[in-house]
Amino acid sequence: MRNLHNALQLKQLMLLKQMGYHYTDIKPSEWEVEPEALPDSLEELRKLVLSCHLCELSKSRHKVVFGEGKEDAELMFVGEGPGATEDSTGRPFVGRAGELLTRMIENVLHLSRSEVYIANIVKCRPPGNRTPTPTEALTCRPYLQKQIELIRPRIIVTLGATAYRYLANDESPISRVRGHVIHQEGYLMVPTFHPSYLLRNPSAKKDAFHDLIQVKELLETGKES
Ligand code: URA
Repeated sequence: MRNLHNALQLKQLMLLKQMGYHYTDIKPSEWEVEPEALPDSLEELRKLVLSCHLCELSKSRHKVVFGEGKEDAELMFVGEGPGATEDSTGRPFVGRAGELLTRMIENVLHLSRSEVYIANIVKCRPPGNRTPTPTEALTCRPYLQKQIELIRPRIIVTLGATAYRYLANDESPISRVRGHVIHQEGYLMVPTFHPSYLLRNPSAKKDAFHDLIQVKELLETGKES
């Protein structure tokens, strides 16, 4: 059935070619989905994202990792993209880095995972855990922007350089921006190190601890420390 479907599609493409159509390499900026054009409910958005085939990552993924947590969370975490465990379960941050993130949420913020929302810049696993390309990140970003628009968190903690770069639209190194409170339209952003980086560089854990204390202060008093 699938072969027949593919053969029919191929036939249609051949027909278009005979009629003079040319293949065009469309740049993501020219067809980026506008967040306003996306569904206004998280459930509808999730359904749409689960069947997304807009970039190369959709070819190798096993499961789309949409994100999970409280739908009106005050606090949201944004990572880079799913790893192997996330790709096989469809859930964000459930591998080794996820276990560390969970401990940070529970032990420093004294919250449970179900009280926050966790998502990523790209919803499908980059093969071999490579960094998503700018095309992949920019193609997927409207989904995250819509999630933020619907959840309306007060604070977003970006985890690592990629999450910060694409959410803040800023190339500054993470070492320079981490721990700062950045006023974005509608929410406060606090960049910190990615848990995978912390697993490789345990000496940076004290900095991440301070960043989360800053987040706790913001949550509890609304003031920057
Ligand atoms: N790393 C990420 O950035 N996101 C995940 O969901 C898991 C690991």
